[in-house]
Amino acid sequence: MKGSVGTNVEIAAEELRKGRLVAIPTETVYGLAANALDERAVLSIFKAKERPFSDPLIVHVPSLVEASKYILSFPRQLEILARAFWPGPLTLLLPKKECVSGLVTASSNLVAIRVPNHPLTLQLLQSLDFPLAAPSANPFGYVSPTTPEHVQAQLGSFTSYILDGGPCSVGIESTIVGIIDGKVRIFRQGAISEERIRELIGNDLDCLPQAPARRAPVVPGSLKTHYAPSKPLILGNIEELLNRYKGRKIAVLSFCHLYRHPSICCQIQLSPKQSLVEAAKNLFAALRFLDTQGIDIILAEEVEDVGIGRAINDRLKRAAALTDIAASA
Ligand code: TXA
Ligand code: MG
Repeated sequence: MKGSVGTNVEIAAEELRKGRLVAIPTETVYGLAANALDERAVLSIFKAKERPFSDPLIVHVPSLVEASKYILSFPRQLEILARAFWPGPLTLLLPKKECVSGLVTASSNLVAIRVPNHPLTLQLLQSLDFPLAAPSANPFGYVSPTTPEHVQAQLGSFTSYILDGGPCSVGIESTIVGIIDGKVRIFRQGAISEERIRELIGNDLDCLPQAPARRAPVVPGSLKTHYAPSKPLILGNIEELLNRYKGRKIAVLSFCHLYRHPSICCQIQLSPKQSLVEAAKNLFAALRFLDTQGIDIILAEEVEDVGIGRAINDRLKRAAALTDIAASA
C-alpha cells in the first residue's frame, strides 16, 4: 500500500527491484530511493520531488568495494576520507563509469557516492544487486525529513514503502567533498566537519567556500534557497529582531537561550545544554514544527561557526535566503 511504514527490509528490497520508490532511513536524513541503474525509476524520483533535472542525485552503496564498481578511479585524498568516514555522513564526487546514467549526475562526469551509516539501510543495500539513487525525501527546496512521519506527510503517496529506521541520529545532510584543480574542496557543509577532514588531509583541503547566500551555487543542488520552511525565517540577533517585529505572531528558534517577549507565540531551543551535535539533530524537526504553527514569522540565530555548527549555520542561511529574496523583490 502506498506510503505504508514498516521495518521490513525484504519488502523494501522487493519494491525497489520492481522499480518503485522506497523511503530509506540514513543517519543524516531520510532518502527517497530508487534503483540507480534504472532510468525509469530514477525519473520517478525527480517527478515525486518536483526536482529539476539539473540537480544530480547521490548514489548510495553498501561499501567502498561496491563504490569502485561505478567509478573510474579513486583520487588518493578522497580514498583516505572514504576509508576514515564510510559508512558515514560523507559524500564524495568521483569520476563515473558509463554504467551510471547522466540522468543521475545531471550530465556531469562525476557521480556523488556515499555509504550511509544506518543498520537497516546497510542491510537493504547489501541485499540488492544495484545501488540506490536517493535525494532527501522532501519536496524540492523544502526542509529535509528526519522521521518516517515527515516523509509520509509530504511524499507518502509517491512511496511504495517507507522503511522505518526511527529518527535520524545526525539530523543534517552529509558533507559533500570533491576535487577541483587538484585541491580537495567542500561543496556542502555537513555532518563531517571541515576540522575532521583537515586532520586527515591537512593542506590538501582548499579554503572554505563562502557563505551560500552570497555566492553562486557551486553544485547544482546547493541553491541558496534550499532547506526552507514556507513561513518567512529571519536570521540575526533575536533580541533585536523581537523589537523590530513586535506585534507579529513570532516563533523563535534559538540555540540554547529561552527568550521572553509578549510577541513570542512559540519557541524551540535546539539544545538547552548547548550541544551543537544535539542542535543539528533537532534542527529540521524544529523547522517543520514551527512551520505548522499559526505564526507570521520565524526568528532564528546562528550558532558558533565550528564543527557541525558550520552546517547548521549553512542550513539556517539557506532557509533565510528565501525571505531575503522576497524582501528584495
Ligand atoms: O545526507 C545526505 O546526503 C542525504 C541522504 C539521503 O544521503 N541526501 C541528500 O541528497 O542530501 P540531496 O539530493 O538532497 O542533496 C544532494 C546534493 C545536491 O545538492 C546535489 O546537487 C549534490 O548533492 N550532488 C549530487 N550529485 C552530484 C554531482 N554529480 N556533482 C555535484 N553535486 C552533486
Ligand atoms: Mg535535499
